[in-house]
Amino acid sequence: MLTNHIFDSIKLEYADMLDMSSLCRVIKLFKPDEIYNLAAQSHVKISFDQPIYTSEVVALGTLRLLEAVKLIRPQAKVYQASSSEMFGNSIDEDGFQRETTSMAPVSPYGCAKVYAYNICNNYRNAYGLFISNGILFNHESPRRGINFVTNKVAREAVRIKLGKSKKLTLGNLKATRDWGNAKDYVYAMWLILNQNKPSDYICASGISKSVEQLCEYTFSSLNMDYKKYVTTDARYHRPQELNDLKGDSTKLLNIGWKAKYTFEDTIDEMVEHWLN
Ligand code: GDD
Repeated sequence: MLTNHIFDSIKLEYADMLDMSSLCRVIKLFKPDEIYNLAAQSHVKISFDQPIYTSEVVALGTLRLLEAVKLIRPQAKVYQASSSEMFGNSIDEDGFQRETTSMAPVSPYGCAKVYAYNICNNYRNAYGLFISNGILFNHESPRRGINFVTNKVAREAVRIKLGKSKKLTLGNLKATRDWGNAKDYVYAMWLILNQNKPSDYICASGISKSVEQLCEYTFSSLNMDYKKYVTTDARYHRPQELNDLKGDSTKLLNIGWKAKYTFEDTIDEMVEHWLN
C-alpha cells in the first residue's frame, strides 16, 4: 500500500465536515497547534452532478471547522486548501494567475472554494485567527485518484503497453493545466503555515501544458504514439470548462519555496508506479 511507510506514526480519528460536533470533538481531543483543511469533494466534474453535497462539504464544512477553531482552539494555526479552480477563466494580461487575479469560478466546486477562501479571510480579519490560504494549482502523485486526468492517462497508457487495454477515452484535450508534484506542494503547505503572519500564497510550477501534451509525453515515455490510442467522448466534458491555468508563485518563492520535481519527473513517477 502507498501509505504503509507512515501508518505507524499517525493516529486516525473519525470526523465529518458535515457534523460540527465531530469537528469539535477531535479538536478538543488533540488540541492541535496546526490544522490543515484538505477535506473536500474535490472532483470538479462530479461537483456538477453533486453540487449541493460538494458545497456542504467544501464551503459550509470549512465554516464549521473555523467555528470549531474559534470556539475551542483559537490559538491553532489553520491552513486552508484553496484552489486555482477559484479563478475560473480569469487570467492576467501576461497569461498568469496570481494572488491579485480576480476570481470567477466556473464550477460548483470552484464556487464553493471561493466561499471557503472568503470566509477564511473574514475569520482572520474579524477574529484575529491565524488562517492562511494556499492557492494550489494541480499537484499530482501516484496517490492521485484514477478519475483525475494525470493518473487516468498514466494508468491506461501502462495498461495499453501491457496489452490489458486497447484505448483511452478522455474529454477535453485542449484545456491546459499547471501541473506540479504533490511532495513539493505539501512542503509549501507547511511553509505557508510556519510564517510569522497569516497570508495567502499561490503555489504553482509556472509552466502550462495541455491534456494532449500530457498524453503525448506519457505515451512516448512508453515508446507509443498517443494518437493511435486516445479517443474523446462527450461524457467526460464539463458543462463549463476552465480553459487555461498558469500560476505565478513569486510570493511563495520569496519565503523560500522551490520545486524539486518537474512535470516530467512527476509523470515518470506515476508511470513507474503502474508498471510495478
Ligand atoms: N478528470 C478528467 N477525466 N479530466 C479530463 C478528462 C478525463 O477523462 N479528459 C480531459 N480532462 C481535462 C479536464 O476537463 C480538465 O481540463 C483537466 O483535464 C484536468 O482535470 P482533472 O485532473 O480532473 O483536474 P482539475 O483541474 O479539474 O481539478 C484538480 O485541480 C484543482 C486545482 O486547480 C482537482 O485536484 C481539484 O480538486 C483542484 O482544486
